[in-house]
Amino acid sequence: MVTVSPAGSPGKNGKKGGTAALDLYHNQWFSFVHLMISVIVGFAFFSKVGLPIFALCSKISMVSRLPFSPFSPKVFTMANIKFFSGKTTPIEMHRVRIIQKLNLRPIDERWEAIKQAGNNTFLLKNDDVFLDMLTDSGVNAMSNDQLAAMSQADDSYAGSATFYRLEKALQDVFETEYFLPAHQGRACEHLLGRVFVKKGQVVPMNYHFTTSKAHITELGGEILEIPVKEAFEMTSTCPFKGNLDIAALKKVVAERGKDGIAYVRMESGTNLIGGQPFSLQNLQEVSSICRANGIPLVHDVSLLSDNLYFCKIREEACKNRTIHEIAKAMAAASDILYFSGRKLGFARGGGMCTNNKEYYMTIRQLIPLYEGFLTYGGMSVREMEALAVGMYETLDEDVISQGPQFIEFMTNELLKYDVPVVTPPGGLGCHLNARGFLSHLKPNEYPAGALASALYLISGVRGMERGTLSEQRNEDGSEPIAHMELVRLALPRRVFTMSQIVYTVDRINWLYQNRDLVGGLKWLDEPKILRFFYGTLEPIGDWQQKLVAKFKADFGESL
Ligand code: F0G
Repeated sequence: MVTVSPAGSPGKNGKKGGTAALDLYHNQWFSFVHLMISVIVGFAFFSKVGLPIFALCSKISMVSRLPFSPFSPKVFTMANIKFFSGKTTPIEMHRVRIIQKLNLRPIDERWEAIKQAGNNTFLLKNDDVFLDMLTDSGVNAMSNDQLAAMSQADDSYAGSATFYRLEKALQDVFETEYFLPAHQGRACEHLLGRVFVKKGQVVPMNYHFTTSKAHITELGGEILEIPVKEAFEMTSTCPFKGNLDIAALKKVVAERGKDGIAYVRMESGTNLIGGQPFSLQNLQEVSSICRANGIPLVHDVSLLSDNLYFCKIREEACKNRTIHEIAKAMAAASDILYFSGRKLGFARGGGMCTNNKEYYMTIRQLIPLYEGFLTYGGMSVREMEALAVGMYETLDEDVISQGPQFIEFMTNELLKYDVPVVTPPGGLGCHLNARGFLSHLKPNEYPAGALASALYLISGVRGMERGTLSEQRNEDGSEPIAHMELVRLALPRRVFTMSQIVYTVDRINWLYQNRDLVGGLKWLDEPKILRFFYGTLEPIGDWQQKLVAKFKADFGESL
């Protein structure tokens, strides 16, 4: 197995070879296409068929701009830029043309805001937030091509041209025949649960996501997490912590049999363990076990773009494959793909793709009941247009590498100050290890919740608790302690600049130096379902007062 350095640098397993091969491939196509265009244009000038041929030429030029096309004139990627200083600094391969003004409120106002929010960062008003690193869901910056596409949306209730464009994009990207739209990722989980999960059945998976677990358990199913053991190691050199433990899968298949297993679920870019990928090889091994036993393999591709990038740079067998080839191989290994379009495709919405007609026909019946007519499925047609373009953009290495490279930069900067973070850096965001950060707190004092609250207080940066608060209580009312106690600092794609990352690192470093001042939290109001969304908590003791006083002593008038 390939390993990565704790710093997560591609190092000798880097992507140079693959990128060079890709560039050569693109350059050859590009030169060939341009030669052909010159010949045709020359011919057109001297013949009567000039106009139609010019029209054809301009079509070819348009096709050559699409990232998935063999005609793409791809010459430069981030990986090709070297610094004289020898430093590796990720560079944005885009420019910012629309901006949103930010507020950074004084610390006393932030203190009031977090009190009002019951120390739950979900309940903060965005006007009170400086850098919103809560999530990447639905908040990735869109490209000019996505915005342009939105204006051609066809909002017919039935048979909308927009639907067929999105269906075509998904067919192009995944080579799957059928597409079922849904209003977002959890809507797919709901429908999949209704179709596949029977009471008492188990769903083995590499790891759960909050909504995926809630839907399965709501229907009387049970989840069984069987990732490789490295998944729970905070610091590791394992490049694929999202892999499923193959021996454990064989065991559960032998014990429960086909009828005891609703489906196997694999989650790309495994969210709750720090955005960690699995390898293509692991997915293919899972797939062959599922297929040999007639068990459906459901693949949550919400965070696929990060996973594709990591396969490309970390997996030997993927180095010389294009991102599109890896995506197609992943789709071919899965029976059903489902996604949150708030993540995959940098838009909003969601859906399911499959080549299995029976699954398609069964799930299709539920779409008009729960989502909307088949040609919009609860989505806005404008978002569907943006999603279609975003799907093609997902195949562009420059587009999908920006998130993981910024996350790697941020993680490495924090490591310089010994701040406990999850390594290797994954996708989605930089993950603080709250158990290591606030090692003086007990598990039921919710270290990750307390850290997220403290970080907002001293910086205006909003992260998300991904630990025990995000778990649901057992049926007997007892509280499971999460495997990992994390604060996720999501980096929505193309949203934050380098100086904003540097500011965040600086404030986290200060908080780490003053970590002894941070205390725990206790419930004020604890909802029954998905308690982390609306639940409110209060600090145990007066630690927030002390933290504010220390901040003022150290930073004076500074915000
Ligand atoms: N699967 C994964 C892996 C996700 O990360 C999410 C959402 C979903 C499914 C559900 O999709 O939000 O469109 O209904 N993750 C968001 C997050 C909420 O902040 O990580 P959805």
